[in-house]
Amino acid sequence: MKFFIDTANFEEIKEAHSWGIISGVTTNPSLVAKEDVPFHDRLREITALVPGSVSAEVIALDAEGMIEEGRELAKIAPNITVKLPMTPEGLKACSVFAQEGIKTNVTLIFSANQALLAARAGATYVSPFLGRLDDIGQDGLSLISTIADIFAIHDMKTEIIAASIRSPQHITDAALNGAHIATTPFNVLKQLFNHPLTDKGIEAFLADWEARKSK
Ligand code: E4P
Repeated sequence: MKFFIDTANFEEIKEAHSWGIISGVTTNPSLVAKEDVPFHDRLREITALVPGSVSAEVIALDAEGMIEEGRELAKIAPNITVKLPMTPEGLKACSVFAQEGIKTNVTLIFSANQALLAARAGATYVSPFLGRLDDIGQDGLSLISTIADIFAIHDMKTEIIAASIRSPQHITDAALNGAHIATTPFNVLKQLFNHPLTDKGIEAFLADWEARKSK
């Protein structure tokens, strides 16, 4: 499973990218709204730094508007992925982009049938939202695993991005349940490094080293 970072904050992207673990970036309108910079300018910065897929979401709700917005976004850089909502209009736009060779990420996926539809419309990625399903007492992980099974049975090339990740446990579980990618907020990425025995081990190694020098 690969890691994307789920943020529009450039400092977070730079820091995570420097760790050598980031294969792409996802943004959404809520994440972009937190940043004090024009959307296209921020996308230029991100795509210049990260060579992998950078998802940029359209705002229009009709296919024509989505196609127009998506084509403009795709002009920013070759690694832009146009993010589209899981609606009939979103899938119309998705199939047009598939024919044009523009990568797509169909977002707000909450059922296996939605994922299947998006894959058939030619989506490059589908984004099932783990955390938001957990929030309403449903099982986000079994959704990931069901989609992974369906895509494997039918030899579908669409990749699964586990989205709406809230904790390190979500990462392990998404990897075990067949997600190709986990798009992960910066605070969760940082937590993945932590283990008390790692810190304790470093402390003990350094203490032993210092003691040896004073002999
Ligand atoms: C990413 O593609 C999604 O927009 C994001 O993971 C949603 O996360 P949230 O449910 O924490 O807002």
